[in-house]
Amino acid sequence: MFDSLPREHLAFLPTPLHRLPHLGDSLGLNELWIKRDDLTGHSFGGNKTRKMEFVIGDALANKADTIVTVGGLQSNHCRQTAVACAKVGLRCILLLAGEEPETYTGNLLLNSMLGAEIKFFPDDHLLTMHSRLDEIIETLRDFGLNPYAVPAGATMPIGVISYAAAMEELQTQTKKEGFTPDKILVSVGTGGTLAGLIIGAHMLDLDVDIIGVSVLSEADIVQDRVRNQIDRVIDLYSEVKYFEPKINIDDTFLEPGYGILTEGVRTAIDTFAKMDGIFLDPVYTGKVGLALMRMAMNGDIKANEKTVFWHTGGSPALFAYPELGQI
Ligand SMILES: Cc1ncc(COP(=O)(O)O)c(C=O)c1O
Repeated sequence: MFDSLPREHLAFLPTPLHRLPHLGDSLGLNELWIKRDDLTGHSFGGNKTRKMEFVIGDALANKADTIVTVGGLQSNHCRQTAVACAKVGLRCILLLAGEEPETYTGNLLLNSMLGAEIKFFPDDHLLTMHSRLDEIIETLRDFGLNPYAVPAGATMPIGVISYAAAMEELQTQTKKEGFTPDKILVSVGTGGTLAGLIIGAHMLDLDVDIIGVSVLSEADIVQDRVRNQIDRVIDLYSEVKYFEPKINIDDTFLEPGYGILTEGVRTAIDTFAKMDGIFLDPVYTGKVGLALMRMAMNGDIKANEKTVFWHTGGSPALFAYPELGQI
């Protein structure tokens, strides 16, 4: 898929696919699997490393000298962008929504260690940062630089398609294991990962129920966002034929807000760690873990349904939540 596009090999692929035996047993799920995109490497992995392969490939093809992107203070996306830039020797500027903390922890600490130039915007939040990005890009151009703008979460067509390719990777693995997935659960922030998986399933003609667990916005807003990304990909890449996507969003665990730890998320993180040695993260995958547990208990996932929990990474953010250790 998308073999003709420039691509910089940054991720360790394929990421492992394996069972979660103890968690599966305790939830009454006989076919619970996990796709380990927390292990895309380099430097703590995550879903954005796949997106960066195509984004950095495109930036280098366009002779960019600087990558500029945006995120929250603990953005995994920004850290993976900074890692990619360090590897290929591009200047990296990160625009972060929030006040500069006295002590850098988690992803923020890693970003500074990676040599990224960090600017803080105390009065902004994740969804307002695109105008900051536009402003800085214009200023850099005025200085004679050739900057490359990467929107929040690298959710742009060149990033989205990486997850269509990831679906093909999963298909190869599940075929080898002798099953076809019935359900996939994945975290949704800006929606690029989910959009890519839906496109991939369409291109491969897979009949799988992909459930996006939203951490940022309500279901109808996320559906529009994901739909928009899918349409942009269809417009740009002729190998993706037009289709009407089914966009299934679970926004049950949005409250009390982005990145705010709840007892439920804490329980999910604790359960995955103690049962099968998997570290979820407090912002994204913790909510997917909680959604999985709820769906299993409600009977929304049947005992023999082949279910893939798509782990999208985020573990460095754990270190910014010391309260997780006080269970
Ligand atoms: C760990 C993790 N999971 C999931 C997501 C959501 O991905 P997307 O923004 O493509 O919806 C992010 C986004 O930053 C993330 O860091």
